Amino acid sequence: MQPYLDIFNRVVNNHLNKTRDVIQTTQIQDLDTQLDLQLQAKGADLKTLEAVLQAFLEHSPDAAHPDFFKQLYAGRNKAALIGDWVASLSNVNMHTYQVSPVATLMEREVIKAWRDLVGYKTGEGMIVPGGSQANLVGMMLGRHHACPNFKTQGADGRRLRAYVSDQAHYSSQKAANTLGLGTDNLIGVASDKQGRLCTQALKAQIEADLALGYHPFYIGLTAGTTVTGAFDPVLECRQIADEYDLWLHIDGAWGAPVLFSPKHRQLLENAQLSDSFSWDAHKLMGVPLTTAAILVKQDGALTECCGGGGSNYLFHADQYAHLNLGPASLQCGRRADALKVWLSWKDLGNEGYAQQVDHLQELRQYCVEQINANPNFEKIAPAPYLNVLFQFKPDHITDESILAKLNISICQNMAHNGGPFVDYASYHGRTGIRLILANELTTTEDIDRFLQHCNATGNKLLAEML
Ligand SMILES: Cc1ncc(COP(=O)(O)O)c(C=O)c1O
Repeated sequence: MQPYLDIFNRVVNNHLNKTRDVIQTTQIQDLDTQLDLQLQAKGADLKTLEAVLQAFLEHSPDAAHPDFFKQLYAGRNKAALIGDWVASLSNVNMHTYQVSPVATLMEREVIKAWRDLVGYKTGEGMIVPGGSQANLVGMMLGRHHACPNFKTQGADGRRLRAYVSDQAHYSSQKAANTLGLGTDNLIGVASDKQGRLCTQALKAQIEADLALGYHPFYIGLTAGTTVTGAFDPVLECRQIADEYDLWLHIDGAWGAPVLFSPKHRQLLENAQLSDSFSWDAHKLMGVPLTTAAILVKQDGALTECCGGGGSNYLFHADQYAHLNLGPASLQCGRRADALKVWLSWKDLGNEGYAQQVDHLQELRQYCVEQINANPNFEKIAPAPYLNVLFQFKPDHITDESILAKLNISICQNMAHNGGPFVDYASYHGRTGIRLILANELTTTEDIDRFLQHCNATGNKLLAEML
């Protein structure tokens, strides 16, 4: 083992101590020829393995770099990182208590802590590989609530309909597909000017669908939409869900950590009125990919909906049976992701996470002020949370297709030149630069530098266009 550990130490130390750009190469197509990734009949020597590990890190964007603003995660959560490594070292498997005793107890504890933050007094939960799977299980719980025999008999001619806003993450489409509902039966209801699901449009859509013989069963709200960070209205949607007997799920994959902060948790008020809830640990909680949770208010709902099989060889009726998490999961083999979440939470405490959220919210405010103060920039969506969508927009350019091209080029050009690394996105017909604040170490100086880069790159591209 020692020679491998030596490689590990050298590669990790080299990576952590090296100053580098956020992105080394944009010529992703050339990597094929630059790196020898071919697998061969004979095993390679350790030098080759070390060189490839070094190259892997060098050619991957560095999400912990202060110039990384591209995706809904960033930074380096040290406790979670070592938890991730130790989970791999143990290689315990979460299906039964006997092969994952400590990790099972840790998972129970983090699920309870998450439930407490959401405000569920009862219920259960499960760690899943990501928000997409959490949303899948959320929709499946809704389907099971509406039609318990769908699980055994399939659709049987029923025409179920699910509702999310037109700003919801695409994972709901994947869920409708996977659950055999048909993606056309997932309706993207109009959002209002704030990017929040419009409740009047929702009600009208449900009524119209009932009149056509559809069976509405599910409302999927988003807390922190992917593009603009909007929070859908929970109370009004709870009332609609009650009126039509629909399941109410909240996708908090990105926005849920706001619940840590007494100062900002009102963004997600009434979370406890939902029936189920998705929470990503690998987004704003900074835990390495992949880790999320599905939480549900009703005790036993997960096992009832997802359970089945495995009792002939795996889930024995022994003294530990009540502690086995496997029967309520869609997976069989499952990693001990609870360890990294638990370790990070133990390290930071609720207060540590609250401070991170508060700091990032202050930075967002600062960023919005700087954008508003610069005549070359225009914010193109409300920014209640940690997404700031804005355009480089000199006064004389009003054509949205030109502005879209210009802003996309700014993002691409900056990435091509080593950073900052940021994405673009469209909202209500306009395309701009989507800045994501997820690294708790980001400072106002980083924001200033970022905006200066956008401005300088925009002016340079504009001059080239003329
Ligand atoms: C609002 C929202 N929900 C769900 C997801 C999917 O989460 P995951 O990437 O963990 O599957 C995302 C991803 O960005 C998201 O923004």
